[in-house]
Amino acid sequence: MTENSSAPASPAAPVDATTTASWTALTGLRDGFAPDLRGWFAADPGRAERLTLEAGDLTVDLSKNLVTDEVLAQLVALARDVDVPGRYAAMLRGDHINVTEDRAVLHTALRRPAPEDDAAETPLVVDGQHVDDDVHEVLGRVYEFADKVRSGEWTGVTGKRVETVVNIGIGGSDLGPVMVYEALKPYVQPGLEARFVSNIDPSDVYEKTADLDPETTLFIVASKTFGTLETLTNARLARQWLWEKLVEQGAIEDTDEARTAAVGKHFVAVSTALDKVAAFGIDPANAFGFWDWVGGRYSVDSAIGTSVAIAVGPDAFEEFLAGFHAIDEHVRTTPLEQNVPVLMGLLNVWYTNFLDAHTHAVLPYAQYLHRFPAYLQQLTMESNGKSVRWDGTPVTTETGEVFWGEPGTNGQHAFYQLIHQGTRLIPADFIAVANPARPLKDGTGDGGAVAAGADVHALFLANFFAQTKALAFGKTADEVRAEGTAEAIVPARVFSGNRPTTSILAPALTPSVVGQLIALYEHITFVEGTVWGIDSFDQWGVELGKKLALEIAPAVEGDTAALDAQDPSTKALIAKYLELRES
Ligand code: F6P
Repeated sequence: MTENSSAPASPAAPVDATTTASWTALTGLRDGFAPDLRGWFAADPGRAERLTLEAGDLTVDLSKNLVTDEVLAQLVALARDVDVPGRYAAMLRGDHINVTEDRAVLHTALRRPAPEDDAAETPLVVDGQHVDDDVHEVLGRVYEFADKVRSGEWTGVTGKRVETVVNIGIGGSDLGPVMVYEALKPYVQPGLEARFVSNIDPSDVYEKTADLDPETTLFIVASKTFGTLETLTNARLARQWLWEKLVEQGAIEDTDEARTAAVGKHFVAVSTALDKVAAFGIDPANAFGFWDWVGGRYSVDSAIGTSVAIAVGPDAFEEFLAGFHAIDEHVRTTPLEQNVPVLMGLLNVWYTNFLDAHTHAVLPYAQYLHRFPAYLQQLTMESNGKSVRWDGTPVTTETGEVFWGEPGTNGQHAFYQLIHQGTRLIPADFIAVANPARPLKDGTGDGGAVAAGADVHALFLANFFAQTKALAFGKTADEVRAEGTAEAIVPARVFSGNRPTTSILAPALTPSVVGQLIALYEHITFVEGTVWGIDSFDQWGVELGKKLALEIAPAVEGDTAALDAQDPSTKALIAKYLELRES
């Protein structure tokens, strides 16, 4: 979307989207809007082809969305009116578009090619930092470490090779790594496993370590700030577990020196606060840094992905990064009219601000993507769940969407009923891959619809295609009657159709495709945030809860004065908890 832009280097007040000509035009188009996907497809044989676009390896069919060409044209005009291209360019060059924290927003720099691999690329220098050099220096260290763990050169304190990597982090320091690890399971080196501890509920660390051998376990403490209560508490619990188990097994002496040596071999860290890492007792040589211009929820492609790099190896991790970059380049170079993340972001604006949708379903027809909706919840909702714009003024329209989802076909047997026949409009993204990692056949079939030797993945994808078809085109009363349905039951079996979906199809769930999918949604989020004029890169909304939890902790521990200082409801709840608590 390289276009001439008049945007200032550091944007001041956002354009109020609701005052633009395109917004007025969209409001006019919305009034009396009568979606008719059946009619639109019938009248326009080129609709599917025209609205099916490519981005990287992703084929994205937008044709089952509730838009006419006129609506799409005005949405694209809206992107121009609020200067999406200018803000994207500002982000790429390192302007401090995260204004409330006065920071550049440079996750796209994490996947730029190494300077030596792309002589044509102008090196990125931001605020005096040689960004490309720094990014690749850390990546090199991560890869070197990953190789050592994978080859067995890196051992635990008793000389045994690592079999389990436990990533301790929360939010962006957990959701990204765990989602990608799950997505890339078929690429994980045999004999290696990763686990992820995030919740401060002690049962999380307990369950994740219960069956592990401390001699073959490596902990990665992943925290951008290295000050997050949950992560540091879990890290201490893990350290305690390591020491106790090693001593119990007679693997180390019960001395301070032996404990320190054990931490040195069983703990590494990823953080922007390397001083705090050292204070925890982790050797700075075993710490991998990143920078304040990487938001937590945008960090899986930084050293925060170390657990993934170990599990799948540096080559696959490189492919993963290349996937992100392919989509960054698509966004940068593709005209708005064919720009997939831009159009998907604009469609979300259309549904949210004009058609009164409140939520957005993401439905992966790929079991390995089972954590993708959870990952997207942080990415989209922590980014765009805001009520003020980047200049501090109130937003002028609804912002944010509630993202949710589960893998198909599980969702079909749970909540699809509401999407098909409920009263709410729920735009949904369906994601599938053509080539499964585990292509199993049903040897016997069921003697009926499922033939002997049936390709089960084909059966799976038949659901993917059937669902979007049913949602779009529904079933009329006459069609229901034609099946011989009793008249009294006909209304219950009618499907209105006109339920919008986007279908995303990739060749296979490769590391590159996983990177592409993440980047796709990062940029969708960016486009929506830009239209709404909000800073999608801060997260002040989660700070209050963190502070209050620390303030309330003494009351929960039984401190009477702290208990008395609480409001009546909170005080009564804590008192009840103390009464119920057995030990
Ligand atoms: O939930 C708030 C948050 O700040 C997220 O943005 C971040 O990903 C998470 O906490 C973890 O923070 P850290 O990586 O600093 O431990």
